[in-house]
Amino acid sequence: LELKANSSDDWQPQSHKAVTQGLENHRKKLQVANTTALRLEELNFRPECEITGKEAVSAIHRAKSQNCKQLIANVTCKSLAGTLYPKRLTGSCPNGGKIAGKALGCFKDENNYRLLSGYFGVNKKSNSPEYCIQLCLQSGFEYAGVQYSHECFCGNDEPLSTFKLPDSSCNMKCPGDPHATCGGYYTINVFQTGIKKFVPQVANTESPPSHENVKIVFLLTLNGRALRQVKRLLKILYHTRHFYYIHVDVREDYLFRELLPLERRFPNIRLTRRRFATIWGGASLLEMLLSCMSELLDTPWTWDFVLNLSESDYPVKQISALERFLGANRDRNFVKSHGRDTQRFLQKQGLDKTFVECDRRMWRVADRRLPEGIQMDGGSDWIALSREFVSYVAKSGDDLVGGLRQVFRHTLLPAESFFHTVLRNSRFCDSYVDNNLHVTNWKRKLGCKCQYKHVVDWCGCSPNDFRPDDWARIQSTQPRQLFFARKFEPIINQAVLLKLELWLFGLDKPSRSVTNLHSYWQSVYHHLDLSPAIDDGLRTVTSSVGRVWSKTVTNATCSVTILRATSFHTKDLYKYTLVHFTTSDSADIEVAFRPINMTYLVAPSTLTKRIEELAVSSDYDQKEQISRNFPRILSPYSEPVLVYKFAASGASVTHNITCLWLDPIGQLVEISDISIEESALIGHSKPNLKHPHRPGSWTVKLIYHQTLLAEVKFLITPLEFYSGVPLGVKQARLIHGGSVSRPLTDNYDRFIENSDEGILKGVSVSNSNKTGKELQDWIDSLFSKFYVIEKSCAVGRTEVCGVQVEECRRTSWSSFAPDPKSFIGSVNETSGAF
Ligand code: UDX
Repeated sequence: LELKANSSDDWQPQSHKAVTQGLENHRKKLQVANTTALRLEELNFRPECEITGKEAVSAIHRAKSQNCKQLIANVTCKSLAGTLYPKRLTGSCPNGGKIAGKALGCFKDENNYRLLSGYFGVNKKSNSPEYCIQLCLQSGFEYAGVQYSHECFCGNDEPLSTFKLPDSSCNMKCPGDPHATCGGYYTINVFQTGIKKFVPQVANTESPPSHENVKIVFLLTLNGRALRQVKRLLKILYHTRHFYYIHVDVREDYLFRELLPLERRFPNIRLTRRRFATIWGGASLLEMLLSCMSELLDTPWTWDFVLNLSESDYPVKQISALERFLGANRDRNFVKSHGRDTQRFLQKQGLDKTFVECDRRMWRVADRRLPEGIQMDGGSDWIALSREFVSYVAKSGDDLVGGLRQVFRHTLLPAESFFHTVLRNSRFCDSYVDNNLHVTNWKRKLGCKCQYKHVVDWCGCSPNDFRPDDWARIQSTQPRQLFFARKFEPIINQAVLLKLELWLFGLDKPSRSVTNLHSYWQSVYHHLDLSPAIDDGLRTVTSSVGRVWSKTVTNATCSVTILRATSFHTKDLYKYTLVHFTTSDSADIEVAFRPINMTYLVAPSTLTKRIEELAVSSDYDQKEQISRNFPRILSPYSEPVLVYKFAASGASVTHNITCLWLDPIGQLVEISDISIEESALIGHSKPNLKHPHRPGSWTVKLIYHQTLLAEVKFLITPLEFYSGVPLGVKQARLIHGGSVSRPLTDNYDRFIENSDEGILKGVSVSNSNKTGKELQDWIDSLFSKFYVIEKSCAVGRTEVCGVQVEECRRTSWSSFAPDPKSFIGSVNETSGAF
């Protein structure tokens, strides 16, 4: 497998050890499948040709459905016959696909200066008398300083010299008056690093291009469940002048359902009904973008630009600055190119391979030759395109667009190259601007861990979420024509979003006194969701929460029906999982529970003192270095991992720790290792455990130099449901009987002391026969050992089943508590925004 080094900005090859290892493992796996020829007896169809290519054979065997196998076979045969792609395409760019160096009015003069037409923008900060100057900088452009056409400025750039224009040509008032209006269009001189000479240019005082009326479609392509973040984003983007077109991954019922009511409230917000399963890197992402663009051209909306954003993007400038920028560049198209050797880019990006998307995966099937006659280009899939170009690319049936659409139907990460390539080779080539308007938080050592190999036959990278530590990167956008940053995930870090909003708006919006400003709620389950299917472990535990609450609070006089579960975080720390249910006396209750810390430090030592976190969970995100299973719900089919975090010691010593995994009957079933060194203080250790895991209380013992350092207890909860249906007797025995594994002993006997093994085994066998009420009681007793219910409240009342509880809206933790930062109220008639 080739490594896809990065998706956009500073495209580079990767050489990280973990990535190499990931690739190697994946390669080995594929090789096993590659050694066999196509087994025709597995297929309910006869391939149209003889398929012998290793990749295609492997893909056909690995694909689950016959339809997918057949599609892969058909595409492979077309590819072998040379009929899959056009052999040659003809571009219509007057200068043959080479971008003239005049994007944004840039040119090099004889002194090697670059002249840019720029303009003044105003960024009034309520408490600051300074104004920001926006520059139309061509991206990738190093500059040491800027000569402004006025003395008023803010940001880090010290003007080396300034010259004034006649005041009459600009409404700008001098510093000191925060309410001054300011603006105007000028030519601004920017000169390159290291060159000290400066040639003043005459200011362009011609009438400025109209930007007031530029109308942007924000095309939001969403997945996941971060509803409140999407609302926060909409709030900051919203203006009655612009349009908001939303695509929600077809597998995400929750987000679609919860956003739908916005359509009725705002005529300029719409959700597309033509939804795709937009897997990461899939051809469907481009299909979706083109489908949305085509639909947008059919709406009565009169827009000038389409700009795509995801749930993890956020503006780093006020929208008025974006309006001014796009207003001054109405006919331009903004895409970001890799900026390196194109051949190398093509290889690293897998553009020289044919992929087939089916069964929600991108299968790599063969090498390919790209059509001759055109220049390929690509970089980032975050774009801003003019209406005219969108109309060409989404509706035109010309050979160039048609041919490239066929090529990109079988391309990995297609949106990262399709628009670039069309733009470069079409009559729109002169409108190409190498800027995706975004700053992306690439941290390749963390983000390139081959984390999408369950979705694509390739190793892809993802940018990291911003945290306050990355502030300098956000701040660096200030003098540049960058309007958005990615990625932001409030479930990982919300503080940085607040910092950003305060930076953008000063103290007024949002003010520090906003209720629950530092809290974040994200849905994990909703009873109306059909897709994605609820995890059986989560369903089991939330049902247990309802019963345990009812037993302890109402003496079981109330029965409950579970409606929703929500993850609740404050100041970027997970606090509780909230379960919302109705009771038999028609009350809406919300209960907060959390896992109990079950880590015991046994031998105090310098190493144990450095332990900051030690827990068993699942869904470890190597990029963000955190388990996304916040309540640590593990069941017989989960993939438990030991998550650890050690404090730095300053010494470059490596500590090798052995982890002993003991099941509920005290058998040692797995030994795993962790290696603590200064460069790897946070990490996880994944045991190789057989499914199904025996339910009950498990233990991990950490051994260092033949001494027991620490013990972590964790729960494998029995399942009340399997595939959403209550367990029957046979299923219970199968799922709760554990897996047959040969107990390990090795040299660790003295850490195991298992005198009760016989008794525990008997108990386990009897537990595995439980169903119905008995099973529920077993689940509830384990729940009560490993979890604690911290709080409960009722919606619109304070008494439930004869018991007094808090009113949910008055609490600071309930999902019913006020959350103004994500509340979409009504539009302010004067400003046109929220
Ligand atoms: C990065 C780059 O930013 C992007 O340019 C490249 O195409 C992929 O790598 P990354 O952060 O990894 O992006 O992807 P993410 O933002 O999670 O997803 C990209 C888009 O696909 C988003 O709009 C997201 O909502 C959508 N998506 C992703 C889905 O609709 N469904 C999914 O299952 C995954």
